[in-house]
Amino acid sequence: MEWEWSYLFFSSVILLSVFILFFSQKKTTKCCYKLPPGPPGLPIFGNMFELGTEPYKKMSVLKQKYGPVLWLKVGTSTNIMVVQTAQAAAELFKNHDTSFADRPLVDVNSAHNYYQGSPALARYGPFWRFQRRICTVEMFVHKKISETVPVRRKCVDNMLKWIEKAVNSAEKGSGIEVTRFVFLASFNMLGNLILSKDLADPESEEASEFFNAMKGIMEWSGIPNVSDIFPFLRKFDLQKLRKKMTRDMGKAIEIMSMFLKEREEERKKGTEKRRDFLDVLLEFKGTGKDEPAKLSEHEIKIFILEMFLAGSETTSNSVEWALTELLRHPEAMAKVKTEISKVIGPNKKFEESDIENLPYMQSVIKESLRLHPPLPFLIPRATIQDTKFMGYDVPKGTRVLVNAWAIGRDPECWDDPMSFKPERFLGSKLDVKGQHYELIPFGAGRRMCVGLPLGHRMMHFALGSLLHEFKWELPDGVSPKSIDMNESMGSTTRKRDSLKVIPKKA
Ligand code: HEM
Repeated sequence: MEWEWSYLFFSSVILLSVFILFFSQKKTTKCCYKLPPGPPGLPIFGNMFELGTEPYKKMSVLKQKYGPVLWLKVGTSTNIMVVQTAQAAAELFKNHDTSFADRPLVDVNSAHNYYQGSPALARYGPFWRFQRRICTVEMFVHKKISETVPVRRKCVDNMLKWIEKAVNSAEKGSGIEVTRFVFLASFNMLGNLILSKDLADPESEEASEFFNAMKGIMEWSGIPNVSDIFPFLRKFDLQKLRKKMTRDMGKAIEIMSMFLKEREEERKKGTEKRRDFLDVLLEFKGTGKDEPAKLSEHEIKIFILEMFLAGSETTSNSVEWALTELLRHPEAMAKVKTEISKVIGPNKKFEESDIENLPYMQSVIKESLRLHPPLPFLIPRATIQDTKFMGYDVPKGTRVLVNAWAIGRDPECWDDPMSFKPERFLGSKLDVKGQHYELIPFGAGRRMCVGLPLGHRMMHFALGSLLHEFKWELPDGVSPKSIDMNESMGSTTRKRDSLKVIPKKA
């Protein structure tokens, strides 16, 4: 009954607002602008009903009709430009990168002023540049990545142990959800690199509270929010997403405050063990006011949360897709296993240093990222100023999506684009590092993924270790052809039904 009343109340609020808006709506784009083409859309709602649950697929279909650049309007005020081909992406990243280098603000990210301290969501400007420099120079530079090999070794060894334990307690013939363990390993790797802590440790209460809060944050940030479609409804927070985000982020920040306090005491006593990312960030600590090269305590905490959010699910989903494709293609699985056993041999562990000698495995990962980029629209950008782009006028504040999913399947760039064929990369110079616009799972240009060196290394290391340690079989009743390939879009795109597999000790 209570639900029915609130439903009636909210429906009336929406209808009334829609009515008022319909008669008072200002033109958000000037009459003389030449906008890119797109489907007409409904008054007030725009194109919101055309996008569905997998909008990157819908937009890819619209490319046939509207060409390389698509224009959509969602709700009352969100203008969206979608870049759908490698050629249009090249034009954007090579010639207009700065004009499109901002990020739009979405409602949930205003919780605890998250967007202001996050390098991924920060407005384009000196503070973002400063944060990005800390990442590239202090965290993800080749030397630092190489110094932290033992950290990743420990996390991958734990992952393999957890998997063995799970297999022993699983029912015969039923599989285990392997991605869960890759996610825990990625999360733990970040915990160890940033804070020198195992944060996916089921035996630590503090760690599991942090882990659960972070899972919540990932979930809320992946749900479409009516407050972004109709900003005048923001104050009602109808789906309670901002409220949930504020709660979980508050919890994560509170735990982070404890870690910071603990570390500052260790630093005073001189008892800390090794210089991790937190030490790096603390060296930049200031009041945060009028000190452009300093970070406030709040900004440090947000910076750290961002690393977990940006780096854990992206990595584990990429590994899940690669393993899924291998299970669907037994001939590719046989080739990659043969390559690994030739290079490493039976009684040795898979090491990060082996990756460079495994061209076929590298091709498997590229091919899987081509078909399944974990962020199919990258991270949305926003135009800083009115910009002339490919003959169109793109107004300031337009949200810009680069459809990496459609670009990866574009028949103009790829032969037989829907098939999984790692061989296409053998002997080819094509890579994922932002120079080849037909393959951009990490983005390109100024706002390209700053964690690429780490994510790339971890994906190869985790997948290689899984393939080297186990022989993978499908559960009873599932065949390579019947594996469910449906996708679900949250903060990243993952398999809708998590992959279930039976690992057998190789
Ligand atoms: C397989 C793993 C990963 C994939 C596929 C991935 C993908 C991406 C993509 C597509 C973007 C947006 C690029 C753009 O807008 O052009 C991005 C941005 C970012 N990524 Fe990653 N990422 C991965 C791992 C990581 C890791 C491990 C970290 C750090 C621990 C990280 C940190 C970031 C940050 C901070 C940004 C924002 C950059 C900016 O706005 O300047 N990512 N990532």
